Amino acid sequence: MNNRTNLFARGRRYLRRLLYSSLPAARVKEIRSLSQLNAALPRIRVPVDTSGIRGWLSADEQRALYALGALAHSPILEIGAWLGRSTICIAQGVLASGLSKEFLTCELNPTLANFRELPDGRIAFYYPPESEVNMGSCSRELFENDIKPVVGHPDGVVGQLRANLRSFEVDRLVQVVIGDFRSVLPPRKFCFVFADTMHGPSEIRRNAPDLQRCLADGATLACHDTTPENRDEILRHFQFREFVQIDSLFIGIVKG
Ligand SMILES: C[S@@+](CC[C@H](N)C(=O)[O-])C[C@H]1O[C@@H](n2cnc3c(N)ncnc32)[C@H](O)[C@@H]1O
Repeated sequence: MNNRTNLFARGRRYLRRLLYSSLPAARVKEIRSLSQLNAALPRIRVPVDTSGIRGWLSADEQRALYALGALAHSPILEIGAWLGRSTICIAQGVLASGLSKEFLTCELNPTLANFRELPDGRIAFYYPPESEVNMGSCSRELFENDIKPVVGHPDGVVGQLRANLRSFEVDRLVQVVIGDFRSVLPPRKFCFVFADTMHGPSEIRRNAPDLQRCLADGATLACHDTTPENRDEILRHFQFREFVQIDSLFIGIVKG
């Protein structure tokens, strides 16, 4: 190898190390904007492995929530914990920040009684169980594989959530609030809200007014499962100074 080729190879190795070496927690706290967060993503490492917890977050989405947990001011709110995959990522970020932050997660805690079959074979979600309002539906396959084992578990959704928070040693950091966030939350403004309850235009329209009441001026709002159609609906209800999308995780800083 001549000197020039050698220099290029060394340069490439250096760049790869720079891009893919992990960013220490202290440096995560130096991120100042959503575009910096996006650029730093390949170097952010969530210090725990949540792959044993059923959930739908991609690796990059978990990294982003971890960083947001580290960066956000208190108080923090999550809506829709399910088994806690996202809760644990955010809580690990809070831990990495070295600061004491109030972190509430609100979970509806559905049971099998909340699900009924539609004439076309899809399974729909009703809350409360006796309601006639279909809050969203999924295929029978997804219900049987991913939802039924969780909602039909003897410990319930929240029992399993609490056990997962304990096994990742973040249970003392997170306050679990059970019920519909639209009615059970204290009248507070939060600096970071992760809403995993914005899966389609009708759910966004239903939840947006109550979500708005939860957001402090300049708060960060993150929503999962954001398709282009969902993003347009979110942008109809909230005004953002800046926003990015990481896989299906929409993140915006609200104006104010
Ligand atoms: C997609 S799952 C959340 C997944 C979770 N964030 C994770 O990372 O694995 C949505 C959750 O939101 C909860 N949920 C739906 N509507 C809600 C509401 N109005 N208030 C509180 N929780 C709600 C559901 O019970 C469900 O557990």
